[in-house]
Amino acid sequence: MSRFTGDSLAYARRLVSLYPQRRSALIPLCHLAQAQDGWLTSDAMEHIAELLGLEPAEVLGTASFYDMLHTEPVGRYLIGICTNIACLLEGGMELLEHAAKRLGVHPGGTTGDGVFTLEEVECVAACNRAPCATVNWRFFGPLGADSFDRLVDDLAAGRLDQDVPRHGVLSRTVRRRGLDVAPEDVAAERERSDREKASRLAASATEAPKAATAGTPGAQAPKGSSGGHPQPGKGSK
Ligand code: FES
Repeated sequence: MSRFTGDSLAYARRLVSLYPQRRSALIPLCHLAQAQDGWLTSDAMEHIAELLGLEPAEVLGTASFYDMLHTEPVGRYLIGICTNIACLLEGGMELLEHAAKRLGVHPGGTTGDGVFTLEEVECVAACNRAPCATVNWRFFGPLGADSFDRLVDDLAAGRLDQDVPRHGVLSRTVRRRGLDVAPEDVAAERERSDREKASRLAASATEAPKAATAGTPGAQAPKGSSGGHPQPGKGSK
């Protein structure tokens, strides 16, 4: 599965309808696709582009910019080990080396069974838990070799399923209430936004020639005046 289908397609359309400009739904749709498949497939990005009236390359351009969006397959659990300064001082690098050995992959790699992907990450703002790790953006720490091994065992055995859903699922609670905006209100807001944008464009189109004229040397200077610039041959005595 990679294009939106059934409920996810209906939800995607409701998300799009929330925004005066359709492209504003780009990030929410990327997360929706990632929750569906665990990562952003090419088909999903094409479908998102269709829904938003964009080119697939624009979706890829945005998705590839953000760390939380993955345009390549990742495991069910994405483990990020922080090696930034606070974690580094507390043994973050040793923890990363241990994790690589335990999982049998280098940072950036995924285990053969597709369960774990290991990443080295920058500060994730959990410095008080150094050295720490994130699993699907849930925080764990401070971790040592033993507690890391226990964490991996618990994840593999499904003992943390309640706390750590599979990669891509940011929240098990799907927000419905905010989506209950009357479609006519959204349409009115979209119209107002389009009108304002058109009038801004018209205003800048009118201003541009004026600014160009004002910027021409001597264009506003009265005839016979130097326009403030020294003139050759005058006042040289
Ligand atoms: S340095 Fe590791 S969480 Fe801040």
